[in-house]
Amino acid sequence: MCLPCLRLLKFKMTNNTILVTGGAGYIGSHTVVALAEAGYRPVIIDDFSNSQQSVLDGLKQILGYEVPCVVHDCNDPATLLDLFQRENVRGVIHFAAFKAVGESMAEPLKYYRNNLGSLITLLEVMLETGVTDLIFSSSCTVYGEPDSLPVVETMPVKPAASVYGNTKQVGEEILRDMAAAGKPVKIISLRYFNPIGAHPSALIGELPLGVPNNLVPYITQTAAGIREQLSVFGDDYPTPDGSCIRDYIHVMDLAEAHVAALQALGQPGPGSHYDVFNIGTGLGHSVLELVRTFENLSGRRLNYRIGPRRAGDITAVYADATKAWEQLGWSAKRSLREALEDAWRWQQQLEKK
Ligand code: UFG
Repeated sequence: MCLPCLRLLKFKMTNNTILVTGGAGYIGSHTVVALAEAGYRPVIIDDFSNSQQSVLDGLKQILGYEVPCVVHDCNDPATLLDLFQRENVRGVIHFAAFKAVGESMAEPLKYYRNNLGSLITLLEVMLETGVTDLIFSSSCTVYGEPDSLPVVETMPVKPAASVYGNTKQVGEEILRDMAAAGKPVKIISLRYFNPIGAHPSALIGELPLGVPNNLVPYITQTAAGIREQLSVFGDDYPTPDGSCIRDYIHVMDLAEAHVAALQALGQPGPGSHYDVFNIGTGLGHSVLELVRTFENLSGRRLNYRIGPRRAGDITAVYADATKAWEQLGWSAKRSLREALEDAWRWQQQLEKK
């Protein structure tokens, strides 16, 4: 029997279908690859409000088959219920959410309705269908400006600095309350640090709409000549070189953390469970370090200037990811250089299209 036929047979014999909401997005699409490689059958629901159809082509080229995808807002109970039943969903990874910090301050209701509404709808459908396992996309933004570094999961959650950040905090609270109420759910929240890079094939990667907000796409677009100049937001922070420090994690490492979390939840069965994990490398790098590393690997000088601080930025944050290693058996494997190389390869192949 051919390999794709064997795969299909395995899929049909075991219930390993994982619904990936927002699966055409940046982290979602890379997680779809990691899931498929681990033997799961990913099914996507995405409304393509912040992603492009070309992602599905990239996934098809990487995996060798078309990933099922429902084009719809996941904040719709009827669509979700139908999807759960039709595809025999066994677990869910919930990425679908708006994520622009600035926009969230201007349009709070849009963010609360979308990010929290979809989570509540999803939980209701899970209860109705008896699906227990859920992985939730949270963020290190919940730590705010931390009192000490690296940050551990037991540290207090600080008042959110943005509506977007608040949707992550409240999302975590909703999930914790579900388990505390004894509802039949097994949930893990993953607090992401700064995802960067792309799949090494350069067939999928980050596709920011318009001018990027995040550092790495801004760097690669500047190097490619799409943006004239990178502005380094401040060099007067109390850090060794004065620029901010973050924990940049390769998006494939982050994707694999979802698979590890799903496996840790184990087989569907009775009981309630809620836990939270930091997903970072444990290493902090400054903005200027990223600029230098990028210049070094690309062989190009980056046109940048030191600009004013960006409102809302914290000085430094990086993870203590010991808990993920001890309890999920997961740790980041790829280096900062590798992540930047993959991001650059992705940007260069975008130009060829
Ligand atoms: N930066 C620049 N110039 C740019 C863009 C960013 O100097 O053009 C700097 C920022 O000041 C910051 C660092 O690069 O010091 C990283 O900035 P990003 O915008 O890439 O990432 P953030 O750390 O601000 O935000 C990320 C996610 C958010 C999440 C947050 C949690 O994008 O979704 O982490 O801290 F909420």
